Parts: sequence; structure tokens; C-alpha cells
Amino acid sequence: MAAFAPALLLLLLAAAAATATTTTALTDDVLALVVFKTGVADPLGRLARWTEDDDRPCSWPGVGCDARAGRVTSLSLPAASLSGRLPRALLRLDALLSLSLPRNNLSGPVLPGLLASLPRLRSLDLASNRLAATVPADLFAQCRDIRTISLAHNELSGYIPPAVASCSSLLSLNLSSNRLAGPIPDGIWSLPSLRSLDLSGNSLSGSVPGGFPRSSSLRALDLSRNLFAGEIPADVGEAALLKSLDLGRNFFTGGLPDSLRRLTALRFLGAGSNALAGEVPAWIGEMWSLERLDLSGNRFAGVIPDDIAKCKNLLEADLSRNALTGELPWWVFGLPLQRVSVAGNKLDGWVKVPGDAALALHVLDLSSNAFSGGIPPQITAFAGLQFLNLSSNSISGQLPAGIGGMRLLEVLDVSANTLTGSVPPEIGGAVALRVLRMGDNSLTGRIPAQIGSCSSLVALDLSHNDITGPIPSTLGNLTSLQAVDLSQNKLNGTLPVELSNLPSLHIFDVSHNLLSGNLPNSRFFDNIPDYFLSDNSGLCSSRKNNSCGAVMPKPIVLNPNSSSNPLSQSTPSSPSSKHHKKIILSVSTLIAIAGGAAIAIGVITVTVLNRRVRAAASHPKPAIALSDDYLSQSPENDASSGKLVMFGKGSPEFSTGGHALLNKDCELGRGGFGAVYKTVLRDGQPVAIKKLTVSSLVKSKDDFERQVKVLSKMRHHNIVTLRGFYWTSSLQLLIYDYLPGGNLHKHLHECTEENTLSWMERFDIIIGVARGLMHLHQHGVVHYNLKSSNVLLDSNGEPRVGDYGLASLLPMLDRYVLSSKIQSALGYMAPEFACKTVKITEKCDVYGFGVLALEILTGRRPVEYLEDDVVVLCDLVRSALEEGRLEDCMDPRLCGEFAMEEAIPIIKLGLVCTSQVPSNRPDMGEVLSILDVVRSPQDSPGDEMV
Ligand SMILES: *[C@@H]1O[C@H](CO)[C@@H](O)[C@H](O)[C@H]1NC(C)=O
Ligand SMILES: *[C@@H]1O[C@H](CO)[C@@H](O)[C@H](O)[C@H]1NC(C)=O
Ligand SMILES: *[C@@H]1O[C@H](CO)[C@@H](O)[C@H](O)[C@H]1NC(C)=O
Ligand SMILES: *[C@@H]1O[C@H](CO)[C@@H](O)[C@H](O)[C@H]1NC(C)=O
Ligand SMILES: *[C@@H]1O[C@H](CO)[C@@H](O)[C@H](O)[C@H]1NC(C)=O
Repeated sequence: MAAFAPALLLLLLAAAAATATTTTALTDDVLALVVFKTGVADPLGRLARWTEDDDRPCSWPGVGCDARAGRVTSLSLPAASLSGRLPRALLRLDALLSLSLPRNNLSGPVLPGLLASLPRLRSLDLASNRLAATVPADLFAQCRDIRTISLAHNELSGYIPPAVASCSSLLSLNLSSNRLAGPIPDGIWSLPSLRSLDLSGNSLSGSVPGGFPRSSSLRALDLSRNLFAGEIPADVGEAALLKSLDLGRNFFTGGLPDSLRRLTALRFLGAGSNALAGEVPAWIGEMWSLERLDLSGNRFAGVIPDDIAKCKNLLEADLSRNALTGELPWWVFGLPLQRVSVAGNKLDGWVKVPGDAALALHVLDLSSNAFSGGIPPQITAFAGLQFLNLSSNSISGQLPAGIGGMRLLEVLDVSANTLTGSVPPEIGGAVALRVLRMGDNSLTGRIPAQIGSCSSLVALDLSHNDITGPIPSTLGNLTSLQAVDLSQNKLNGTLPVELSNLPSLHIFDVSHNLLSGNLPNSRFFDNIPDYFLSDNSGLCSSRKNNSCGAVMPKPIVLNPNSSSNPLSQSTPSSPSSKHHKKIILSVSTLIAIAGGAAIAIGVITVTVLNRRVRAAASHPKPAIALSDDYLSQSPENDASSGKLVMFGKGSPEFSTGGHALLNKDCELGRGGFGAVYKTVLRDGQPVAIKKLTVSSLVKSKDDFERQVKVLSKMRHHNIVTLRGFYWTSSLQLLIYDYLPGGNLHKHLHECTEENTLSWMERFDIIIGVARGLMHLHQHGVVHYNLKSSNVLLDSNGEPRVGDYGLASLLPMLDRYVLSSKIQSALGYMAPEFACKTVKITEKCDVYGFGVLALEILTGRRPVEYLEDDVVVLCDLVRSALEEGRLEDCMDPRLCGEFAMEEAIPIIKLGLVCTSQVPSNRPDMGEVLSILDVVRSPQDSPGDEMV
């Protein structure tokens, strides 16, 4: 306060010196303004002229006066960058009619008694500041003449004071985008003058009260983005003057109330992202003034009524993300509609364009339905079309050449269909194209050079097709290009040097093609991640001067005296081509290399095997029956319904409701692909739910579903069964059997001395994991992420391999991304992950298995970080073997309850599995035969080794 005392003094002097035209009242107002000025920070100097030197405050910027009364009646300083607490001095300006300070940086609470102190105030606008704290309960206690109030875009909390329902002169109340909670005050609909009520973007909850009077003046009602639940009030249609009604993004259930049909003046109906169900009512056509209709993201089913065509002014219709069926309604092309989306429904049939189509469409989104047939050529006559998304349907045939005439087309997405033919050269005519996505089709032929004329192109995706030939050099003309995905095609030749001209490029994926030669010279290509280039005939960059040939790290040879490892010749490359003979040979050669160690006889072999046979018999393979169902959504999540699919038996609903899945307390663990939670199916069956965190990389629902179904067929005693999955575009869950025994990592590294795993248990686990892996490989599934935390123990202590094959759910990924996803698997990762010229096969799992076996025997982590050293387990064991002191490596907690002769062959097997060169590793079938031999040599035909 001391700060303004001199100013005040000066002001008083100035006022005294002024002539008698300055009334006392005005002097009071001037005082209040100067105090206001001193209370706020004014970095832009907007209030610079508010000085005591200037005795005509009515000409001060932002100040308005009533000349006759000689009072300040308006204060208007929008976007003046004022900050600081809302000054109390305002309360002194008691002649104000209008107070308008929006888009400043004012903080603190709304002044209690603001309306009471300013009895003549008609308009109050404090929107877009940083006002905080609860709305004072007495704010509306005396509202007198107030007509419009906006406190929108602040940080106000608490309830809306019920007294607002007594402000009978109120025309407009805007409290949007705050943090208000609680219900809508009763009686608010009865405010006789209220024309506009905006409560959007708060946390208001409860059901919306009814009681809309016939006499309602309401023109605009926005309740969107709150937590309202229950049904939409049945009598909302009584407010017959409504022009705009937004109920979107709440949790409304039930159907659209019948009374809505009376809203013949309504231009906008927003009901998107709720949980509304039932059919889309035909009476929507009676709301004939409708210009915008948003019913997206609900559970509407049935066919889209033709009667919507009666809304002759309809410009935008969003019916996406429902469960609508039937054909695309004719009126999509019949009305002067500009934007239509029916994406994410179950519409089917051919897309038919009538001859007399109204050609007004700007945006057409038919993606993620079941449309079939060809792309109608007439669609290219929609010269105004800017956005066309036909992706994820079953559309076949070729892209019509007429596409070249679509001069305004900015986005074309036809990916994930069954298109054939080639990319038409006419595409070059679509000069406005920014995004072109044709990935995941069956396109053949070459990339036309004319694509270089699409000079606005930012993103190009032709991946997952059968496109051949070279990458055209004209791509180098597209200087706006940022993201190019040509992966998974049959492109050959070299990368054109012109690509070095692209200044904004940050994704250029040509992996899985037949490309060769040098990379272009540019900053981007000098630093291009390897996974964009992997699996080609031979791409090399000048920077990495050694990467052209097939470079492999030096193989580590177990026995320095045997320069060639016989395993490398005898190991068949695919598991299906293996013969019994070969296995025997490999076994014997392996043991031979390993130095002819004597093999001890496992003591418990027979009993354990018997137990396993019995257990397997009691686990008949369940029939795989698909059942579709919908999981009821938790309100906190995406309100669109997702698809829950369970394989085999099992009640397809979670007893705890959707949100329990995401409950931290139920979290079992976390991995590179996501967190795992425990929950219970309605039938009482516990399951483990994996929530994938890499959802943005999951390519399409169909892709995902296809891959998950492959994984679900992996039924084996040593594999964690995949029970089902849940899909929405933003959330993917995998549902596994829950295993009570925890994971192997815990047992090895977090257990106390007393309950450590015994020697026999460890041996059983090694064999079980080997069996599980072999089963996966026999069915063409590579695990990719084997590690001790992915081996779970069931109630009998039997190991089950989990988290297998997740990489196949992520078709956009290849191993390099993968390797970052599974960083936690450090130490288990085969060296070829780092080597782009070598294909990743199931041999990478063999490597991981070898590390795991060593880990189980030694009780040490694959990589250990000591104070000034990093210990890699394989290297440690390998040098211990060379120095003849393997005993020192064994887990001390085993307390010598085993014979070293039993352990040595397994350790050697582990070392062979971790050979640097994949072909030097045995396959899992061979590993298993070796283990069986180690365990009971007299039972197997392995006697030739001795
Ligand atoms: C608002 O004030 C805060 C600090 O009080 C400051 O960091 C911020 O830049 C200001 N914003 C504007 C738009 O003036
Ligand atoms: C409410 O205020 C916000 C922020 O000023 C504005 O964007 C919105 O349009 C207003 N609502 C109405 C109905 O005028
Ligand atoms: C096309 O639709 C699909 C599915 O609805 C969506 O994932 C994709 O992002 C859309 N494409 C574009 C370019 O917006
Ligand atoms: C496009 O690129 C080609 C070859 O790279 C070049 O010959 C041609 O002049 C370029 N066209 C334009 C319009 O820049
Ligand atoms: C690319 O493949 C085609 C056959 O598909 C072949 O005719 C052509 O010579 C190849 N080009 C290069 C540069 O290898």
C-alpha cells in the first residue's frame, strides 16, 4: 500500500488544483483507478497515461464515463497483459455498468460482493485470466441488473452457487473451462431471460435436472466436456428456441429424448462421445434447421435413417464410432453436405454415388467399415473434396485415374484395403495432396515418377504392398516431405541422390525391400536409424564405412583348438527341415566340442516326466470359439465401445468393470510392451491383463486381431495361454491366464536363501522353457523377448513362457525399435539385433535361452553393474570354463546340492546357445534333445556319444 501513497498524494494535489468541473464522485473514481493501477503489473504500459498529471480520466485508455453524471461507467482492458491479483479497488467504481478485463493474467479469487458493490453493473467479463479458488457463495446474492457474466477460462473451483438461479435479469452466463464441480443448480432453467448458458469444460456431475419451461428463452446451451451422467432430460425440447445444444463428451446414457424433435430452430446438435444407445431416430429429420449433427462415439446401432435427408441445410454429419449397420445412406451424396464421417461403424455394401450427386463435399470419412467393391470413379468428380479416408475397409480394384483431377484434395487415405493395380501416374495432378496413404494393399507396379508433381506432399505411405522397381528420383522435388514409408515392398535399385535435397525429412523407412547401394549424402541420411534400412539387399552409408558387407562380430569359439564348429554345418536353418539323424549328430558333436564331459544321470527324471504327462492330459486343447461382446466402458476412459474377444471358454466380462484394469493396486509388473494387471473374470477366473503401451504403433485392428489369433493358438503346457484381447483404437489389452507363482526373475534374484529354487526345480525350469520355446518355433512364432521376468511359474512350480510374439503385433516396428522397447532384456539380446544385414530368426530366442540357462544355474543377472566394471554373464562363465573353475560360477545358494558333472553340460549348452553367429547355435529341438540326454542318457539313443 505504501507504494501508491505518493501517487495518491500527488493526485489529491492535482484534484485540488483542478477546476470545479471535477466532481467529488469523479475524484473518487479517479482514486479507485489509480489504486487499481498500482495493484496490477502492467508490462506493456497500457496504463501509462493513467497518471495524476492527467486530470481527465474519462480520456484514459480503457476508461469510459457518463458525461452527465460525471462518473466512470465502463472499464475495458482486454488482452492488456495485466497481471497480479484482481484489485479490490474495483469495488469502489460503484457507477460501473460494464467491467471487461478478459484475456489478461489476473489471479486471485473473484472478489466476494463484486456484484453487490457494483449495483448498476450489467456486464462482467473476466474470461481467460488466472482467477482461482472457489466461486464466492455470495457472488450472486444481489445480482440486480446483471445481464451477462463470463468467468470462462479461469481456474475457478467449487460448486456453482445456487443463488445464480435468482439472477432474473441474466441473459448469458459463461462459466466454461474452469474446474467447477457438483451439480447444475436447481431452477436455472426457469431464469426467464437466460438465452445462453455455457458450462462446458468443467467437472460438473450428476444428472442434468429437467424442468425446462415452455417459456424458456434459451438459445444456446453447452454442457459438453463434463461428467454428467444419466439420461438427457426428457423435456429439453420444451426450450423451443434452442439453436445450439451441445451435450457432447459426457456420460449420458439412454437414447435421444423424443422432445428434441420439436427443436425446429436447432442448428447444432452435439451428442458425441457419450454412451447413448438405441437407433438413430428418424425424427431427426423434423429438426429441419440442423446444420451440424454430431452423434459420434456412442453406441447407436441399426441403419442410418433416410429421413435425415429432410434436414436440407445439413452441412456436417458425424456418425462415426458407433455400431451402425446397413449401407451408406444415399443422402451423403445428395445433400449439400460438406463434411461427413461414418468411420468406425459396421456399414457394408458398395459405395454408390448417384448420378445427380450434389458435389459440395469437402470431407468424407468412410474408414473402418466393411465397404466393398471398387472406389466409385464418380467420387473424383467431387472437385471440392479435400479429405477422403477409405482406409480399413475391403475396397478392391484400382485407384481411379480421375484422382488426378482432384485439385483440392489434401488427404487421401486408402490404406488397409485390397486395392490392386499400380499407383496411377495421374496422381501427379493432385497438386494439393499433403498426405497420401496407400499402405497395406496389394499394389504392384512401380512408383510413378509423376508423384514428384505432388509438390505439397508431407507424408507418403506405400508400405506393405508389392511395389517393384526403383524409388523415383522425382521424390527429391518434394521439399515439404517429412515422413516416407515405403517399407515391406519389392523396391530395388539405389536410393536416388536427389533425396538429399529434402530438408524436412525425419522418417524415411525403406526397410524390407531389395534396395542396394549408397545412401544419399545429407544430414538426415548420415544419421538415419538403422531400422529404417534393415532387411535390404545391401544399403550402405559412407559414414558407416564398414556396413556394406555382411559384417558379423567375431564369433566366439568355445574350444580355441577347433577352428570350425561342426554345429554350424549341421544346424538346419528352419525347424521344419530337421531330421532325427541330424539331432543325434548335433548332440554328439556338441558334447564332443564341449570337451567330452561325463554326463551324470538325473535322479528325478522319470517321476517328473510322468507328472508332466499327466498334467498335459488333463489340459485338453480347448476349441477356439470366437465370441464378440462389448465391454462396458468405465467412464474415465474412451467412451467409444471396444471389442472384447475371448478364445475358448470364459465369461467375456470383467467382474470389476473396465476401470479396475487400470488400477495401480492391481498392477503385477511392467515391461517394454506395457504394464500387467491382475483382475477377475465374472466367472471368478483370475486373469492377467497386459495393457500395451505401444498402441500407436499397432497398425490396424484387423492386423492386430489376425496376429493375436495366431498367438492364441499357442496352447502348450509351458506357455502362458492367451485368453483373449480387448481392442479400441486407443487401448489394447491382452488377457492371459494368471499364474500365482510369480516370475522366475523374482525367484532367482529376490528370494531369500531358504526358499531359493532347488537344483531339480532349476533343471525342470530349463527343460520347461526349452519345450515352450520349441512349441512356439514349431508354430512359426519367434518370442523376441525371452528373459527371466517373462518366465512365470504356475502353482506346481512349472515354468510357463509369457510375453511371446508381441513384436508381431507391431508391424511398424522392426528389431531396432524393438531392441529399444525391450531394453530391459539387456544381456538376453542376441548380437544380430545390432547388425542390420542379418535376418532375425528364432535363433535369437536360442541366444536368450542360453543366457537364461546360465542365469538359472549361476543365480547371477545377465549383466551386472559393479562399481567400476560391467560383468557380462556369458563372458564370465566362458572364461571360468577356460580356466577350469566353473564351480565358482554356480549359485552359492545351491550349497552344493548337485553334482558338478550334471551342471557342466548344461553350462556348455548355454554357452553354445550364446554363440555370436546365429548359425552356430543349435535350434530348440536340438537343445531339448541335448537336455533330455543330459538328464537320462541311458534312455535315449545318445550312447554313441560316450
Ligand atoms: C502471466 O504471469 C505469469 C507469472 O505470473 C508469467 O509467467 C506469464 O508469462 C504471464 N503470461 C502472460 C501472457 O503475460
Ligand atoms: C464462453 O467463453 C469462452 C471463452 O471466452 C468462449 O470461447 C465461448 O464461446 C463462450 N461461450 C459462449 C456460449 O459464448
Ligand atoms: C483414416 O482413418 C483411419 C481409421 O479411422 C485413421 O486411423 C487414419 O488416421 C485416418 N487417416 C488420416 C490420414 O487421417
Ligand atoms: C523434378 O525432379 C526431376 C529429377 O530429379 C528433375 O529433372 C525435374 O526438373 C524436377 N521437376 C521440377 C518441377 O522441379
Ligand atoms: C529390379 O528388378 C527388376 C525385376 O523385378 C529387374 O528387371 C531390374 O533389373 C532390377 N533393377 C535393379 C537395379 O536391380
